[in-house]
Amino acid sequence: MNTIRNFSIIAHIDHGKTTLTDRLIRATNTVSERDMSERMMDSNPIEKERGVTIKLAPVTMHYKLPLNKFEIDGSEYTLNLIDTPGHVDFAYEVERSLAACEAAVLLVDATQGVQAQTVAHTYKAVELGLHIIPVINKIDLPSAEVDRTLKELEQVFGFKAEEVSQLSAKSGQGVEALLARIIREVPPPRGQSSAPTRALVFNSTYDSHLGVIAFVRVVDGSLDSHQPLFLMQSKTPLEVREMGIFSPQRTPQTTLETGAVGYIATGLKDIRDLRVGDTVTVNLKPLATNQPLPGYKTPQHTVYADLYPADTTNFQELQDAIEKLSLTDASLSAKLVHSPVLGSGFRLGFLGVFHVEITKERLFREQGVSTILTNPTVEYTIITTTGQTRIIQNPSDLPDPTEIKEMKEPMTRATIMCPGSALGPLMEVLQNHRGVYSNTIYIGGRAQLTYTVPLAELISGLFDELKSASSGYATLDYELIEPAPVDAVKLIILLNFEEIMPLSRIVVRQKAEKVGRKLVAEIKELLPRHVFAIPIQAAIGGKIVARPNFTGETKPAKTSY
Ligand code: GTP
Repeated sequence: MNTIRNFSIIAHIDHGKTTLTDRLIRATNTVSERDMSERMMDSNPIEKERGVTIKLAPVTMHYKLPLNKFEIDGSEYTLNLIDTPGHVDFAYEVERSLAACEAAVLLVDATQGVQAQTVAHTYKAVELGLHIIPVINKIDLPSAEVDRTLKELEQVFGFKAEEVSQLSAKSGQGVEALLARIIREVPPPRGQSSAPTRALVFNSTYDSHLGVIAFVRVVDGSLDSHQPLFLMQSKTPLEVREMGIFSPQRTPQTTLETGAVGYIATGLKDIRDLRVGDTVTVNLKPLATNQPLPGYKTPQHTVYADLYPADTTNFQELQDAIEKLSLTDASLSAKLVHSPVLGSGFRLGFLGVFHVEITKERLFREQGVSTILTNPTVEYTIITTTGQTRIIQNPSDLPDPTEIKEMKEPMTRATIMCPGSALGPLMEVLQNHRGVYSNTIYIGGRAQLTYTVPLAELISGLFDELKSASSGYATLDYELIEPAPVDAVKLIILLNFEEIMPLSRIVVRQKAEKVGRKLVAEIKELLPRHVFAIPIQAAIGGKIVARPNFTGETKPAKTSY
């Protein structure tokens, strides 16, 4: 009998995933009450402080249900829970965890109901063929609306009320019954123990002593810590420094059986040498019949920004810090750039604006490096008049307008959940951000809106405006779709008639003047009083479109494309 159960918890941000994980760790005595700390699985201090999970983390729990209580035999079960990040920027990590599991606990906050990411993650889990255990959380709160949430779960996903567990991750009420459901309903791992070994690398991290650590799910066969291993897609031999399970700290083991979730410390020095999604096998010459597992899509960078040291003489420090950060964040990409004003720096590719924020904070907190970050921008595709295609991630790379035949920008399909009463103001906000309406679905008293929105608008304050237009109730999820043509220009800022390159940005033509005026006013506010006499101007293609009142000479704009 296979006693392994692999599952994830999927939920909208703040619906209680981490609290439930802590509760399960307690209920299964995986960590003694004395050693338990809050947000056990969030290892990073920023995760603990902000209450947001950024990296996915697994934990193995051993559990025996009380006999006679749930009509389940008295065997000890191994429950592998893979915690997932909640923020939409890290949605690709959720997908990776789900691919390593047979089931997902769908957690919905009884005070919030079904939200945008609840829907997105559930559809993804269903698409991957996972069994779903629907659960309503926070039933201890006086503001809990259990009946309304039950109705929403039925309306959106078709779950009957009797299929939905109700619990409080905080008080522990209903948690034992959930453990019984997990044992009963999560299908045992699908793989074959007699087949050639295949283990999926679903995540990785770096340890200064053990090198790159691969998080693996054994799909077929088993892994032995004494055998040489091999990465099937990158064709790299692996030396096992240590192998084991997370409980939740790394706990060494000599074997990992079919269905097990654990780690392999590889000794590799660069996290990029181990591709997440690769397949580990045991022989240096894998059998011809042994095919690698399907793996994952590489995460797509959506946002780019240039990062310079706050003090130009500290470039080396910044370079070292980015290298160290890249050891634990394989999704970051970095390319050298130079600015006449800010000196040498890096153009970084990110998964979203929250990822930009977290990276800047981690550089400061973990590496002690202060940085200047340019305005995050999306990637534009330019078709030139000579028929060339150019991908640009910075306004300074935009060709002269006379050389541009067509310009395309990344687009998203955005799903917004909100109370029905907020529809009017929300639609206005979306329209102001060039959103194109697709449809509305009503779920009880709430609405799910679908819009096509340019990614550039999503990263420039749209979400905050949606939140305030809905008194904090709107939630949003998005996916990238095909890029679409855009009529955009480069807006430059001139200080004392000189272009300040890092302040330039690409803006849609119809909004350029307005953005220019706003920027100029903001810069004027920031400048110390004694520099007031310096003219601040915004220009498009040599034409000044904004300048605050100043008393000084007037010269034509010196611009460069
Ligand atoms: P991310 O890690 O950001 O995805 O959030 P999360 O889904 O892990 O949510 P988290 O566990 O951080 O919970 C969010 C907030 O809800 C915290 O303040 C928890 O203390 C609170 N919370 C979670 N579960 C319960 C519950 O059952 N009852 C009550 N009253 N509060 C809860």
